[in-house]
Order: sequence, then structure tokens, then C-alpha cells
Amino acid sequence: MVKAKTAAGSEAQWHEAEAEFALYTGGAGQGCDVQRELSLSALLEVNDLRVEFDTYGGTVQAVRGVSFSLDKGKTLAIVGESGCGKSVTVQSIMGLIPMPPGRITSGTAMLDGVDVIAEKKIDGKDIRGRLVGMIFQDPMTSLNPTMTIGDQIAETLQVHQGMSHRAAFSRAIDLIDMTRIPEAAKRARQYPFEFSGGMLQRSMIAMSLACEPLILVADEPTTALDVTIQAQILDLMGDLQRERGMAIILITHDLGVVARMADEVLVMYAGEVVEKGGVDDVFYRSAHPYTLGLKAAMPSNRDDSAQVLTPIDGSPPDLFAPPAGCGYFARCPYAMQACEDNHPESFDLHADHFARCWLHHEGCDVEAADVHRKAVETAPAPE
Ligand SMILES: Nc1ncnc2c1ncn2[C@@H]1O[C@H](COP(=O)(O)OP(=O)(O)OP(=O)(O)O)[C@@H](O)[C@H]1O
Ligand code: SF4
Ligand SMILES: [Mg+2]
Repeated sequence: MVKAKTAAGSEAQWHEAEAEFALYTGGAGQGCDVQRELSLSALLEVNDLRVEFDTYGGTVQAVRGVSFSLDKGKTLAIVGESGCGKSVTVQSIMGLIPMPPGRITSGTAMLDGVDVIAEKKIDGKDIRGRLVGMIFQDPMTSLNPTMTIGDQIAETLQVHQGMSHRAAFSRAIDLIDMTRIPEAAKRARQYPFEFSGGMLQRSMIAMSLACEPLILVADEPTTALDVTIQAQILDLMGDLQRERGMAIILITHDLGVVARMADEVLVMYAGEVVEKGGVDDVFYRSAHPYTLGLKAAMPSNRDDSAQVLTPIDGSPPDLFAPPAGCGYFARCPYAMQACEDNHPESFDLHADHFARCWLHHEGCDVEAADVHRKAVETAPAPE
């Protein structure tokens, strides 16, 4: 990691951006303060993760050297457009990459002192199921339509914790109740088709919490839900996190959800992390042109008729043959000649905030502050 020539943007510009961004979020992230009170100790450390898939068209380099860490009790959001490697990153940690066609070619993921990429079992038991719980966008694809919800949660407890069916079913009812599904004992005896979308997602959360995981991984958990149910599910996740002190990895396309839930944000593009930092840094002091592009393309909370959204032109590079230089070169409004052939390094902007972009190199004559100013100027004006 290289130290950047300058912090991105003046204080005045930051405040301007802050005011503008508050429109998207409806105010400050509500979960963050409470989460900051929880104890800080590195729980997950992912280093240089690389994942490929063999396909008929060639080898897809889906994840290209991803590194990040996550502290106990914190929420890390992963954002980036479709196909950038968000799901493959977390699936690698969970042991869910199908091999073949997938292949983890390098990397470690130290979870509570164990490399979960190298080690699959401890004392004959699957460690990942116990350490990480996962909820998916579409619960129906993860639930068995022929088993009751209670039996499915109980089965998890029987397999991972060696409980009897009777004890496991009773615990399943407690877990269903914990996710605020009314009449938990009755609901535990029902099948997935008898549940609404919101209740299915609550059931998935109950199942993922069954083994008291250290990390809850949520891959687009609320995308398929309407806004009211979405807010309820996010509140539930936040409450459970505070009660249990677990960490959350949240994958989402919704930057409003990120602002509301996350402590830290990982911005991914074409299989790489292009910016990482605290939620305030990434939103208010955005340092990578792609992050600025994502923000400009995002709808805000205000009246629809007044919004001007600016989509990012073009498409991501071909991951069969990723470019030698910056993956964002073809779409970047600030691209310089040097960006085409030289792969950008990561530049430290300040504590725990970095961006992979040549604009932050000390030899670059485009001021990073200019980038930020232009982004603020082109963003919709606050009302
Ligand atoms: N089983 C697979 N076989 C071949 N390629 C795959 C497989 N799974 C993922 N990929 C490829 O890996 C890349 C990253 O996929 P990934 O699912 O992580 O994207 P994503 O960021 O989660 O996108 P989305 O937002 O659409 O869910 C994509 O190019 C995808 O086509
Ligand atoms: S390295 Fe160059 S092309 Fe890539 S994002 Fe930065 S300015 Fe744009
Ligand atoms: Mg995905």
C-alpha cells in the first residue's frame, strides 16, 4: 500500500458532499454508534484471495487479489455492479464455490485463528457452518419445499451441534420466535409455501443463527422484498447483531442500505477491491472514480421528479482476459494515458481508507481534490 499525495478533497467539499449524501440516506447511519461500542478485535482477515472458473469460453478471473479484514461486532458492506465478484468472495470463505468449475488459486481467510480456505473440518466437524451463517437473496432456493421450516432449522442443529431431534426442534421454535414471527410453535410445523417473502427471509435468518455464528453473511437479503418488509428485516439484523455481538458482511446494490447499516465499505470492480474505508470516508470522501460513479447513479430519498441520475457509461472489462492496466480505464472520466497499461496500486488516503487509483500517486498532476469537486458539482443539488 502506498501513501497518497493528498487527502481527497477539502473540508468544505467534504461537508458539501455530506449534505448531498444525507438526502440518500435520510440522515446518519443508525446502527453505527451502537456497533462502535462493541469490542474491537480482528475476527476475519482475508488476504490476496483469487478465484477462477473454467468455462467453455475460457477461464473467468472472478476474484483478483481481494484482501480485507472485519472486526468483531462490525458490519462490512460489499458494493459493486453485477458480476464484480461480491458473491464469489463470500462464497469462497463459506466453502460454497463449486469445484470444478471453480478454483481458489491463492489466498487465506483467517477466521478466529483458522484458515477456513485450507481447513474444512476441526474435530471432524465442518467449521464454516459453525463460524459463519449465510442468508441469500431468494430464500426459496435455499429452503427445502418438502420439509417444515422447524424441521429444516432443527436439522442444522442436529448436524452441526449433535442435538437430538426433540431438543433441536424446540430450539428451532425459539429461533423462529427470536426473528419475530408470530405463533412460532405453529409456524415451525408449516412448509415454506405457507410463508410470505418476509417470513421466509426471517426463517433463513433463524436458520443461519442456529449455530451461533461469529459472522452473518447476507447476500442481497432484502432485494426481493418491498420497502416496509425490507426495513423490518434490516432492523431485525441490527438488533440481533447488537444482542449477539456478531459481525455482518452485507452484500447489496442499495447504497441507502449501506449507509444505514455499515461501519465499513468495500467497493469492488472487476474482481478487485478499488476502495475500502469507513462508511463516512467512502461516501463523503470518495476517492475512486468508480465510487463517485456509483453515487451519481443512485436514487436519493427526495422527490423523484427532481432527481438527475447519471448512469456509468460502458461495461466492465472482460474477466476472461482482464486488462493489464486499470480495469475502469475505458469508463473513467479521469483516465490518464498511464492508466491503460499500469495496474494501479492501492494508495493509503488516511487511516483505514485506501483507493486503487493513479490519481492519488504523488507524480499525478490531476489533484484528487479536483475529482471530488467535479463529482459534487455534477451530483444533484441539495434542496
Ligand atoms: N459457477 C460459476 N461458473 C462460471 N462463472 C462463474 C460462476 N460463479 C460466478 N462466476 C463468474 O464470476 C464472476 C463474479 O460473479 P459473482 O456472482 O461473484 O458476481 P456478483 O458481484 O455477486 O454479481 P451480482 O450482483 O449479479 O450478484 C462473474 O463473471 C460470474 O459470471
Ligand atoms: S487509475 Fe486511472 S483509469 Fe483507473 S480509476 Fe484511476 S484515474 Fe481512472
Ligand atoms: Mg452476487
